Amino acid sequence: MPTVAARPSQREQLDRRVLELTTLYEISKLLGSSLDLEQNLTGILRILNSFMGMRKGTILLYDPLQDELSIRVAVGMTPEEIARGKYRRGEGILGKVIQHGVPMVIPDIGAEPQFLDRTRSRGDLVSHPVAFIAVPIKAGGETIGVLSVDRVFAEAVSFEEDVRVLTILASLIGQAVNLQQRVAHEREGLLAQTRSLEQALRTRYRVEGLIGQSKRMREISDEVRRVSQSRATVLLRGESGTGKELLARAIHYNSPRAAAPFIKVNCAALPQTLLESELFGHEKGAFTGATAAKKGRFELADGGSLFLDEIGDLPMDLQSRLLRVLQERSFERVGGTRTIDVDVRIIAATHQDLENAIARGSFREDLYYRLNVVPIRLPPLRERREDIPVLTEHFLAKYNRENSRKIRMTGRALQRILGYDWPGNVRELENCVERLVIMSRRRLILPEDLLLPVDTDLERTRPALPHSAAPLTGAAPDRSPTSVPSLRESERQQVLRALAEADGVQVKAAALLGITPRQLAYRVRRHQIVRSFHPAR
Ligand SMILES: Nc1ncnc2c1ncn2[C@@H]1O[C@H](COP(=O)(O)OP(=O)(O)O)[C@@H](O)[C@H]1O
Ligand SMILES: [Mg+2]
Repeated sequence: MPTVAARPSQREQLDRRVLELTTLYEISKLLGSSLDLEQNLTGILRILNSFMGMRKGTILLYDPLQDELSIRVAVGMTPEEIARGKYRRGEGILGKVIQHGVPMVIPDIGAEPQFLDRTRSRGDLVSHPVAFIAVPIKAGGETIGVLSVDRVFAEAVSFEEDVRVLTILASLIGQAVNLQQRVAHEREGLLAQTRSLEQALRTRYRVEGLIGQSKRMREISDEVRRVSQSRATVLLRGESGTGKELLARAIHYNSPRAAAPFIKVNCAALPQTLLESELFGHEKGAFTGATAAKKGRFELADGGSLFLDEIGDLPMDLQSRLLRVLQERSFERVGGTRTIDVDVRIIAATHQDLENAIARGSFREDLYYRLNVVPIRLPPLRERREDIPVLTEHFLAKYNRENSRKIRMTGRALQRILGYDWPGNVRELENCVERLVIMSRRRLILPEDLLLPVDTDLERTRPALPHSAAPLTGAAPDRSPTSVPSLRESERQQVLRALAEADGVQVKAAALLGITPRQLAYRVRRHQIVRSFHPAR
């Protein structure tokens, strides 16, 4: 390494050592204080600048993917100059430092043809001859960047000294960059992990197997999701076949108890004495035929959930026993004296009008309040017709899969399905689709295959539907009886007025309303407007 000035005195050398140590100390303090790389690197350059009289300084990092060495931080340069400071591997002095991983010194940059001055930040070269020192920044044995400084020529310092100090600094910088990259990498990994966990939770939360796009069904999914997380008793209400059992299972399998058993008891299926021993178990010899002790469903469900279906049919005596279990979480087996404690989450369901049963004296009011902690009411299918297409599609796919068939349905057959009232709700629809898939000789289900006890007028009165079921729900939200009841009512009033004005002649009434006769016929049906207004044929 060339030495520019005359040999420094011992005193000068000592002063310089002290200065170097102070600089390194300040820089190590700085690096220990924060993980903000940009801020730390800028700090390093500032300290170099103030302690060691280095005029310009840059820290460049190399991106091997882009083959680009660019300035991360700089002091003594404008943003434009910084932006220009980009180099490829092997290009100019800086590129060579990256390429070879060794320091380079230009004693006088004004006289050096290899010096690119790409940043054009050295217009004052002539008046102040300047040396340029660049040392590699290394991490893990690789050159990841360059630390460079400008130094005024005249100072009585050997380049070797500068290179030595800068190399120590570069190794500190290398560690800081490395650390920061590792932290960033880890953080990215953690973020990705969080995202995938969230994703998993979302799919978990989307209640498995519960099909429905109607507003009410979406609300129910949401309720299930929330109630699952607690152990609150849930009471599911709704007509037969609306999905109460499906929901009960969803609550259990979305709950922290998912790994523990889900046990079902149908309270309407057994006579009282059998039901009692079924629920609470019995001891040996409790009654004739009780040849061995038997655990009841409450015990079997310990740690999990007990689904009490048709709770409205529970005999009075058992209602009292159940009430006690709900209050105390403990009971005795039939014929036993030992008290058994259980941790069971109760989900009850009924299609019955419990309030009415209470009034009649066939259901205990106190039990009702114990069960009715979180009530969820499942609407009948006819009140959420917009779910019919998705459900039909779902069951079609399900039974095609089960029976290795590829049956499809015409749009008109779907219209027929949509027009029917489905008193048996989703169960009836499911059975109907299953039967169609099994029985159909053709690949395509036609309206006449449906065998629904349906008003044949319907096909003419319902508006045409697209073949795909999906647009139906989106295209006709006003058809949803659950949404915007006031809108529905005002439409009904409009139709009634028009019909009155047109003396019940639908074509005329349609003209008055500015809609097609077919649209009017549909509205008449939808609002169940009485026959006296049907067209005078
Ligand atoms: N929203 C729904 N999505 C998919 N399948 C449903 C839905 N609701 C009900 N089902 C299906 O309909 C049938 C009857 O449902 P179930 O839960 O037994 O009704 P409930 O207990 O109210 O009588 C079951 O096969 C069930 O899987
Ligand atoms: Mg049921």
